[in-house]
Amino acid sequence: MIRILFIGDIVGRPGRDKIATWVARLRQKHNLDFIIANGENAAAGAGITGSIARTLLEQGIDAITLGDHVWDQRGWEHEIDEFERVCRPANLPASSPGKDHVILKKGNFRLAVFTVLGRTFVNMKGECPFLAADVMLAKTVGANGADAALVEIHAEATSEKIALGWHLDGRAAAVLGTHTHVPTADAEVRPKGTAFITDVGMTGPYHGVLGREVEPVVSRFLDGMPRRFAVASEDVRLSGALVDYDPESKKATRCELLVVK
Ligand SMILES: [Fe+2]
Ligand SMILES: [Fe+2]
Repeated sequence: MIRILFIGDIVGRPGRDKIATWVARLRQKHNLDFIIANGENAAAGAGITGSIARTLLEQGIDAITLGDHVWDQRGWEHEIDEFERVCRPANLPASSPGKDHVILKKGNFRLAVFTVLGRTFVNMKGECPFLAADVMLAKTVGANGADAALVEIHAEATSEKIALGWHLDGRAAAVLGTHTHVPTADAEVRPKGTAFITDVGMTGPYHGVLGREVEPVVSRFLDGMPRRFAVASEDVRLSGALVDYDPESKKATRCELLVVK
């Protein structure tokens, strides 16, 4: 049995501190083979830097994925290629810097990890996530090396995420949603053996609005004036999905939300 923890969007220093405190403990407690985390909000809530990526990997994250905030930190586009275990969304234009997937190994087992961006209410130049996921599965799994694939769907619309879960049922070990920062109560194993959840939630401050301080966001809704949305600080939680995958049957056997307060 392969056990995977997929951690949702790490938001700013509060999220990074939570990772520093908990990753090694969670690996031991749950006997985790792979820990993957989305780091798109790790640097002050927007993007990631080389030094933050390096620290997260040193702390025990095996692979870092990214989303629509991938290029928010200036200079990261020149650093991303240095990282073997960091990937940018796979359906960005092919000319984009960075890898479109990561392969993780445990013994003889190889897990491909990649992210596709949704296109509904997501302002990026992404290709169709459904076709991109098909292409990525063909490119990474089976004859091409990996035993199974974990697919992250980084999207705003629940319908798009749920539909991708069905599209890949039986072909991906897991289809796990991110981007909305709010964990959903629909973790399950789909009939053909794919672990699925619409959103694994964020790792950051929940006393706020998606990780940002309450007051400026509420005021912006009231008067429409631009403001700085600082990262909030209270009620910091680590949120992710715990997935068990059986390499014999090639099916996931468990998918649960895991929240550490
Ligand atoms: Fe995010
Ligand atoms: Fe996002």
